[in-house]
Amino acid sequence: MKEKLNEIKEVILEAARKARQETGDIPAPQDPEPFTWPINCTVGPGLEGAIASESKIGYVNGSKGWLVYRGYDIFDLCAYSTFEEVSYLLLHGHLPTTNELNEFKGKLAKYRILNKTLRIVMSFPVEEMNPMAALRLGTNMMRQEYSYMDKEVGRPKLDDAISSDEDSIPMETTPMGYANAIYEFKTNLCKNPIGMRKTLWDASNTEACYQLIAGVSTLTSAIVRLKNGHMPIEPLPGLSHAANLLYMMTGHVPDPVEERIMDIALILHADHGMNASTFASLVVASTLSDIYFSVGAGIAALNGPLHGGANEQVVHSLLDIGGLDNVKAWVKNKIENKQKIVGFGHRVYKAYDPRARILGPLAEYLVGGRSDCMQVIYQTAKRVEEEVLEQFGREKKIFPNVDFYSGIVYGCLGIPVELYTPIFAVSRVSGWTARVIEYLQKNRIFRPRAIYTGEFNKEYVPIEQRNRDV
Ligand code: SDX
Repeated sequence: MKEKLNEIKEVILEAARKARQETGDIPAPQDPEPFTWPINCTVGPGLEGAIASESKIGYVNGSKGWLVYRGYDIFDLCAYSTFEEVSYLLLHGHLPTTNELNEFKGKLAKYRILNKTLRIVMSFPVEEMNPMAALRLGTNMMRQEYSYMDKEVGRPKLDDAISSDEDSIPMETTPMGYANAIYEFKTNLCKNPIGMRKTLWDASNTEACYQLIAGVSTLTSAIVRLKNGHMPIEPLPGLSHAANLLYMMTGHVPDPVEERIMDIALILHADHGMNASTFASLVVASTLSDIYFSVGAGIAALNGPLHGGANEQVVHSLLDIGGLDNVKAWVKNKIENKQKIVGFGHRVYKAYDPRARILGPLAEYLVGGRSDCMQVIYQTAKRVEEEVLEQFGREKKIFPNVDFYSGIVYGCLGIPVELYTPIFAVSRVSGWTARVIEYLQKNRIFRPRAIYTGEFNKEYVPIEQRNRDV
C-alpha cells in the first residue's frame, strides 16, 4: 500500500515537472506592490478584469498556470499535505503545528455530527431533489444547529446604518438614480454587537467555518444516502475528512489509496481566486447576512454548468459521444456550431489548468488495469482532449479545466455522478469560509453599477388601455 501511495505522489511530482517545463519561459509575477483604493482597472462583461477585493488567501496565474494557496504551490500541497492541513492553512494563514492540527481535527470530528440538521433534512423530499438544492437548504439549516442568529438581538438595526451619501458614491445614472439605495453598517457592529455569542459578526470567529467545513461533508453524504432510500451514516471519529466522506457515503471504510485520492481531489478544489461561487458568498457576507447563507449562496452559484456543475456534464457528454470513433466528428461539430465543450476553457487560465494536470494523470493511474466503463470514459476523454487541442490549435488556449477529469477520478472511487458537484462544494467550503472571514475584517457592502440602457419619461398607461396588438 505504501508503494501505491508513493506512486500517487510521483504522479503529482511528475505533473509539476511537466508544468514547470512547459511554462518556465513565461515570466514569473512580480511581488505584490502596496496599493490604495480606488483602483483603476478595465472591466469587461461578466466583471472580467474587475478587482473585487484584496486577499492573501489564494492566487491564480493564468499565463503560467499557477495556483497558490497562502504562498504554497498547489503541486506541493497535493503531494505532501492533507485537506485538513490545507483548510487550516486557508483559514489561518499558516500550516498547522501537530497540536493545532489535532485540535482542528477534533473540532471537525465534533462538528461532523449534525443530528438536528439531519432530522430537518430528512423531512425534505430529498429523493425528488437535486442534491445541490438539498445541500443548499441543509447548509442554511445548519445555522439552527449552532447559531443564535435568528434571535432579534442578532440583527443590526437600520438606524445603525450609514447611507452611501456620506461616501459620495456615484449612484446609477442621473437624474433617475436613488441616492439612498445602499447602506453600510458601521464597522463597530461587525465586532461584537450587544454581547451576543460569537457568530458571523465577529470577524475573527472561525468556529462557524469549522462547523461548515465538517457539516457540508456530512450533509452531502446523507443526501446521497437518503436519495437512494438509505439512512445517513454516523461519521467515524478516527477517520480523516476524506475517508469519512467516502465512509459516510458508502458505509465502507476506504483503503489508503482511495482515501489519498479523495484527499488530493479535495485539496485541489478548495480555493480558486474570485470565482463565481466565491464572489456570490462574499456578496452575501458583505450585507452582514450570516455565514450559513453565504455558503448557501456559494453552493447555489457552484451548481451551474458553467461553473462546478460542469463536472457532471462532462461525464454525460463523454458517454453521449458513443465511442472513440465518434470523437473527431463530435468535436468538429461542437466547434463548427460554436457550442461550448464542457470541461474546457477558463476565464483566467490561458495555460493548462494545474488542477487538470494532476487530475488527468490521476484518472489514468486509477483506470490502469481496469476494463470497465471507467476505462472507456477515460480513453474517450483523452481523445477529446487531443482533438480539441488539435482542432482549436494551442494558440486558442482552450485547455481542459478542473472539471474535465475530476468526474473520472470520482467515478473510479465509486461515487455516483449526481454527487460530483456536491463534492466540489465539500472542498470549496474551505475557500468560501476563509475568504468570508478575511473579507469581513474590512467589510464593505458590494454594490457595483449597471449601465441603464432603458427608456425614460414613458407615459403611464392604465391596464384597461393596454393593448399589445395595436
Ligand atoms: C470552473 O472561475 C473559476 O475559477 C472557476 C473554477 C473554480 O475553481 O472555481 O475554475 C471552476 O467553473 C471551471 C469551468 C467549468 N465550466 C466549463 O467547463 C463550461 C465550459 N467552459 C466555458 O463555457 C468557458 O470556458 C467558461 C465559462 C469556463 C469561461 O468563459 P469566459 O471566460 O466567459 O469565456 P468565453 O465564453 O467568453 O469564451 C472566450 C472564447 C470564445 O471564443 P471566441 O468567440 O473568442 O472565438 O473561448 C471560446 C469561446 O467560444 N471558448 C470555448 C470554450 N470556452 C471558451 N469554446 C469551446 N468550448 C469551450 N469550453
